[in-house]
Amino acid sequence: MSATPWRDIFVSLDEQGRARLADAAQVAVKSIQRPAGPRSALSPTELHDLIWATDVCPDAGTPLTDVLNEFGTSVWANSVVPFDPACVAHLHPPTMIPSVVTEMSIAVMNQSMDSWDQAPAATEVELHLTSWLAGLMGMPSTGSGVMTSGGTASNVLGITLARSWAASLIGVDVLKTGLPPQAATWRILCSDQAHFSVQRAAAQLGLGRDSVVTVASSASGAMDINALDSTTAEQIKAKNTIIAIVGTAGTTDLGVIDPLDAIASRCEQLNAWFHIDAAVAGSYLMSPQLAPMLHGIARADSVTIDFHKLWFQPFNASALIVKDVERFDLLRVKSKYLDRGDEVPGMINLVGRSLDTSRRFDAAKVVVSLRTIGRTAFTEMLHRVVELSAYAAEQIEKSPMLTLLTQPTGPMCVFDAVGCDADDLRHAQQNLLMAGDMVLGRTEINGRAALKFTFMNPLINFSDVDKLISMVENALQK
Ligand SMILES: Cc1ncc(COP(=O)(O)O)c(C=O)c1O
Repeated sequence: MSATPWRDIFVSLDEQGRARLADAAQVAVKSIQRPAGPRSALSPTELHDLIWATDVCPDAGTPLTDVLNEFGTSVWANSVVPFDPACVAHLHPPTMIPSVVTEMSIAVMNQSMDSWDQAPAATEVELHLTSWLAGLMGMPSTGSGVMTSGGTASNVLGITLARSWAASLIGVDVLKTGLPPQAATWRILCSDQAHFSVQRAAAQLGLGRDSVVTVASSASGAMDINALDSTTAEQIKAKNTIIAIVGTAGTTDLGVIDPLDAIASRCEQLNAWFHIDAAVAGSYLMSPQLAPMLHGIARADSVTIDFHKLWFQPFNASALIVKDVERFDLLRVKSKYLDRGDEVPGMINLVGRSLDTSRRFDAAKVVVSLRTIGRTAFTEMLHRVVELSAYAAEQIEKSPMLTLLTQPTGPMCVFDAVGCDADDLRHAQQNLLMAGDMVLGRTEINGRAALKFTFMNPLINFSDVDKLISMVENALQK
């Protein structure tokens, strides 16, 4: 087959164009190969040599079928398989068919979310989704948001708003004049289990990582509210101003939720911005049984939601939700060609809420898949992953070799092994990875090296969990 003439390579939606696209989609689906396990056993060097051996852009093109097949055998066959039962390291979900096919529609229509004139219906979909989420949290009707590329980006955006808001309270437009001298005393409080993106945000915003003061967590891994009060008192005594407190709803390693309602009350007393990083446990809002764990979320000024974690969406899909949409005005930058301010009433340019300009229409896949699955089935999926980690904990407790480190409350389960040090755990985890047998998590819990299962796949069975535990035990014995 010869290479496609360039006139036939563009998307069109006439009969011929649709047929070409459908054919190509079929070839693409057929060409995706997967390794036998959660990843192939190729070493980093072998992978490097394999991938770099192809010419990125040869002079003459190659037929799409050939390129896709070659990609299938070199790239997909050597990729990690998030839907494999032994892919249990990270918050890395299997994805749902409605989202996957909508990814294609998103690319076909290629809306750009910065301005209404590039994404008229898409803008309304994103507004509808983010306002629905604000409603789900119990926020007032002023609640709304914007999609971002991930939890890190959402946290950076939330903390950027907090910084601008703190400046506005002392009459400073930080976007225009930069940080005022008082900024040297600004502090952001979060628990010692908060995600590193809080520090990253402070660093990028010119506040410096040292402006983030960590509050001790209790044995459960949740922020200790007494420690928050004593840290607050120390900061006030040192004449620092607490501009924001970040609560975590679902820590990365344990999935633990900070006492959100109590933190909200502290923020109100201090007139500090309350940001919640609900990247991990945000989807608990969908479950009548799990949602009470998020009590207090309605009182946040901003909340990070990561659809590409426990909402089972393909990357990228995240959102920052704010209680009062007018807060986005704190970062609005007008330009001559976008968001001029003289648009027809009702034309919203989402660039005014975002740190990006051109941006994908990720809301589409979220809405299509949620409408397809429905809340009841979604909740079942969520309960299933939590159940899998509870089952793993039970089995680990029965194992003479392994030690459960904490009782799981979410889809993660952390453990170590009797008589094994950090190096032994590292060897076991790396050997499983290199052999292509398991993508297992490894972390530290209270300074103690640990292994971690993160169950993101509601389709796996208790017998798969049993197998994973035996594989870890065997790897530790080698
Ligand atoms: C609690 C928490 N917040 C934020 C993030 C960052 O999310 P992303 O990887 O989507 O940037 C993570 C990542 O695991 C996380 O666990």
